[in-house]
Amino acid sequence: MLSPSLCVALAVLAVANGAPPKASDVTKVALNSGSSMPIVGLGTWQVADEREMEKALDAALEAGYRHFDTATVYFNEHLIGKVLKRWLSEGKLKREDLFITTKLPVNGMRASDVPYFLNQSLAKLQLDYVDMYLIHAPFGVKRDAGHNGVHFDDNSVDPTTDHLAIWKAMVAEKEAGRAKALGVSNFNETQIERIIKNSPVPPANLQVELHLQHQQKPLVAFCKKNNIAVTAYSPIGSPGTQAVVDSRRVPPNLLNLPQVKAIAQKHNKTPAQVLLRHITQKGIIVIPKSSNPKRISENIDIFDFTLDDEDVATLDAMDRGIDGQLFLLKNFIPGVEFHPEYPWEAFRIEPIA
Ligand SMILES: NC(=O)c1ccc[n+]([C@@H]2O[C@H](COP(=O)([O-])OP(=O)(O)OC[C@H]3O[C@@H](n4cnc5c(N)ncnc54)[C@H](OP(=O)(O)O)[C@@H]3O)[C@@H](O)[C@H]2O)c1
Ligand SMILES: *[C@@H]1O[C@H](CO)[C@@H](O)[C@H](O)[C@H]1NC(C)=O
Ligand SMILES: *[C@@H]1O[C@H](CO)[C@@H](O)[C@H](O)[C@H]1NC(C)=O
Repeated sequence: MLSPSLCVALAVLAVANGAPPKASDVTKVALNSGSSMPIVGLGTWQVADEREMEKALDAALEAGYRHFDTATVYFNEHLIGKVLKRWLSEGKLKREDLFITTKLPVNGMRASDVPYFLNQSLAKLQLDYVDMYLIHAPFGVKRDAGHNGVHFDDNSVDPTTDHLAIWKAMVAEKEAGRAKALGVSNFNETQIERIIKNSPVPPANLQVELHLQHQQKPLVAFCKKNNIAVTAYSPIGSPGTQAVVDSRRVPPNLLNLPQVKAIAQKHNKTPAQVLLRHITQKGIIVIPKSSNPKRISENIDIFDFTLDDEDVATLDAMDRGIDGQLFLLKNFIPGVEFHPEYPWEAFRIEPIA
């Protein structure tokens, strides 16, 4: 039998030799609902091709991912469902090993819409429950706005959005066992506080834009105080997605910043791994998207190094606060900045840099 110290030595050796992490190496974040969430998940926005999804999910599951992030409006739940079904029916995975998040769309922002849209998601995912059901955004549009809930016109906005009524319907789904935990996305502090004060079930998770240049320090502190887990979307700054960025400046590619590259070199890791480690080392969940098998395994291989205090100070100082925000969602839905629940300052002059 191996002594415990030898086991540790062998484990370290395996990591040093570049062995990929196992699913059990991936830290989990405890949720106030009682379950826990793997700190790295796979983002799937903009993956809508069947072959691409199959390749990405197979690579991710083999690389140790168990957490997958989707949404009604990504139009890919049926593709994810198909791959998961194969892994589950072949006995390579158990349902309880997985953590699946999906989201109520902005055209489903009425209490009576919640059961319908969750049922649709479950049917497409071929699951009896999701592990996390999020309200995708705090504002609403008309049920039939746009084409399939996207490509909105100037008359799409529905100002009647009632968060407390919607949240009550979400809680009913949790009680019925169709969602193990509930959360919100793109909500601000005031909006989250209102739910906490008025419902016996607080949100377990907030999913927001969070990366090197938009570190969301006040919102993260608020969530920590209220025991709400934070998930960082666009954790590597969504390179390549600049067509949807509401900004007059072209944001820099975070992977090319000299400070990030230098820290990566120092640890013999990649810039993406440094960006993801910087976030997860603070206990924040990340959901990087990739459909490239090599980058998929790279993005979860972040448990064999630690950023030191100096690295962290350098990276912390690169926050641009509100000026680093990429997604104001005004390009997706014309006029949404006039919705009464628009979460960000509507008339902010964006910097040109
Ligand atoms: N709740 C919301 O409103 C909301 C909004 C936005 C995003 N999200 C979620 O968050 C997920 C991630 O956000 P995101 O897709 O905007 O941005 P991201 O994960 O920060 O960046 C994805 C981009 O980075 C590239 N990439 C991934 N890993 C890389 C690596 N190791 N080296 C170099 N390039 C790499 C990907 O290209 P390849 O595929 O070619 O690798 C892709 O173009 C989404 O997929 C979605 O699930 C949620
Ligand atoms: C959702 O599914 C549940 C369980 O299958 C069912 O009882 C309920 O009627 C469905 N609701 C809607 C609106 O489809
Ligand atoms: C959150 O958004 C609401 C609705 O627009 C607004 O009234 C409130 O001031 C915002 N709170 C914060 C902290 O920005």
